[in-house]
Amino acid sequence: KEIKVFAPATVANVVCGFDVLGFAVNEPGDEVVMRLVEKPGVRLLKITGDEGRLPLDSNKNTVSASVQHYLQHLNRPDIGVEIELHKKMPIGSGLGSSSASTVAGLFAINQLMGNLLSAKELVPFAMKGEELACGYGHADNVAPALMGGFVLVRSYNPLDLVVLPTPNNLFAAIVYPEVDVPTKDARQMIRSKVLLKDAVTQWGNVAGLVAGLCLDDVELMGRSMQDVLVEPVRSILIPGFEQLRELAMENGALGFGISGSGPSVFALTKDAAAAKRVTKAQQQHLNKLNINSKAFVSAV
Ligand code: HSE
Repeated sequence: KEIKVFAPATVANVVCGFDVLGFAVNEPGDEVVMRLVEKPGVRLLKITGDEGRLPLDSNKNTVSASVQHYLQHLNRPDIGVEIELHKKMPIGSGLGSSSASTVAGLFAINQLMGNLLSAKELVPFAMKGEELACGYGHADNVAPALMGGFVLVRSYNPLDLVVLPTPNNLFAAIVYPEVDVPTKDARQMIRSKVLLKDAVTQWGNVAGLVAGLCLDDVELMGRSMQDVLVEPVRSILIPGFEQLRELAMENGALGFGISGSGPSVFALTKDAAAAKRVTKAQQQHLNKLNINSKAFVSAV
């Protein structure tokens, strides 16, 4: 039995919701080919598209490690699995690269085993993969990659996930400046203490963003895309960040910010044409700074 699964990139945090909000896009994403074999154990046979950057060791790669974890949970050491991972999205980009691979793998094994768990029940296994990749098992990439759309992580302990409604005609304009920002480093630089006045601003924005999604009010969503806690620190790693924001807003974005831990940035727009204008202007700007970039426009 063999299966091929695609899992999408995701925009985590959605500016103000550090570790608690994320949404899935249509592309890019990763592909996993998996087959059940006689010989017990989980084997990662090959990885393509990673330029040799990811571990082939089945215990260290997030895909095979989370599949092992899933089979342990089912108490099925007798199962034999062979995996191929085809990376079709940039690594260390802030677009949930490790999450896309892990989720594709978990979805694949779950299908091969007869769909024993729901997408929501797979989230904790995928979080283990994130822990392996960056030291912390955050759910704001893996939950939307598995469940689709916008997902709120209301609580980590106990895990409480809420799929939020998505307004019609919402587009994401994503630009990835090709500079490396490992999530592990981008997490370590954040301050662990916050001022109450900043916390008040932040939770007003998170509530506003969620209200905007529920009320189909994209202008409210845009106004709420402001982050006073994490972005001021992380944006230093992104070349020309403030100009990228200005270009997004001038070209019709509702709101703009860092995707996940960066360096990718994203804007939300009301139509595909505006999203294309935003990415074009931003890529031209990065080009002037001698920075290569990739752009993705997707319906949300
Ligand atoms: N919430 C995580 C972070 C997402 O910002 O570190 C990483 O993609």
